[in-house]
Amino acid sequence: MGAIHLRQRPGSRLQHHAPLALILLSCVAPGGHSLQTFAAQQRPWLRNAPASSRSSHLAALAANTAFAEGTSGAEYSERYGNKAPALTLQAPSKINLFLRILRKREDGYHELASLFQAVSLTDTLDFWVEGADSSKPICSMEVSPDSVGRVGIPTDETNLVMRALKLFADKTGTKQRVHCRLHKNAPAQAGLGAGSSDAATAMHAANRLAGFPATQQQLIEWSAELGSDISFFFSRGTAYCTGRGEIIENVPPLPDTPCFLVKPADGLSTPAVFKQLGLNKGQALDGPDPRKLLADFQASVTGGTFLNDLEPPAFAVMPKLDKLRMDLKALGFDAVMMSGSGSTIFCIGRPTVAGAAWKEDIVQKHGASIFEVRFCQRSPNEQLWYNEA
Ligand code: C5P
Repeated sequence: MGAIHLRQRPGSRLQHHAPLALILLSCVAPGGHSLQTFAAQQRPWLRNAPASSRSSHLAALAANTAFAEGTSGAEYSERYGNKAPALTLQAPSKINLFLRILRKREDGYHELASLFQAVSLTDTLDFWVEGADSSKPICSMEVSPDSVGRVGIPTDETNLVMRALKLFADKTGTKQRVHCRLHKNAPAQAGLGAGSSDAATAMHAANRLAGFPATQQQLIEWSAELGSDISFFFSRGTAYCTGRGEIIENVPPLPDTPCFLVKPADGLSTPAVFKQLGLNKGQALDGPDPRKLLADFQASVTGGTFLNDLEPPAFAVMPKLDKLRMDLKALGFDAVMMSGSGSTIFCIGRPTVAGAAWKEDIVQKHGASIFEVRFCQRSPNEQLWYNEA
């Protein structure tokens, strides 16, 4: 069954200005909510933020929505016009507080052990649902005009959202047809798992819209067929992940910790970084015991050992990334490290330098985008998603 292919529009102003702008939790308010209401209702981390950072988040939200209205309107669907979606969910990003590569497996994947933490740089996904009609595709999607990197985002079966919706339909036999509109804020090829998060969010949404025919454990198992990082997003937001990354163990939430994501203009290909590691099948990589690393982080986030075994190969593929890391390190954060297979570098804590000039310096020197984020958690109620009470 063919997917609906939608016309791509030329790049947005936001996209063109991104390297020069400091983007703080850029987000578009869906579903006709006023911006302030949306921010207050949908973003508990924002509600708890200090007044100064709250106002800058809201300013960024306002600026972004004003831009969206200047194009075709953030609430407009190419397929459903102004009809309100049945469900709107936020898909968070992730960082890896440590990432140990243990060995290369016989199947070519790398056995890893990593502490994943969900963070509040979110994509927004709207969903509409229709009943059975075998003459029409079981799923379809569109990308909002104001999405970051919209031109390069496919809407066919190569998009993980489409693959997740199709997989859910195949596994459950549901005949409901789901249409997704993706508002993309989080960059791709960034080591932030944003595409994986969108896929997990789509599976959760399809299950919820169908009345929960699948258990969460089934969704975790099915999602591992699509990619190694997707299962994590079904966790509570802080998880120790092993295997390819798809075996998740919830661990207690970490304390609220200041965190900045610094994404250079260029991305990194995950397979290229793993390949650069240069391990042969069956070969192990020595390093500290990951259970000991986990225990250290649980005692104190800032006292943890920030170690990512993918940093050396990523810096070999993109030498200028190490220069960005060193410039950030010189600013006096508690920790500075690459997330996943890059190219995002995250900074924990606050810089020792005064003021916000450091952000402009980094943006200008490295053409990077900077996102200030919070650690975020998911409700223990498995029927709810991130950022829902
Ligand atoms: O599973 P996923 O599709 O996200 O992985 C993308 C690529 O990253 C794999 O094809 C593989 O080259 C590499 N990878 C790996 N070991 C992992 C995860 C990913 O070698 N644990």
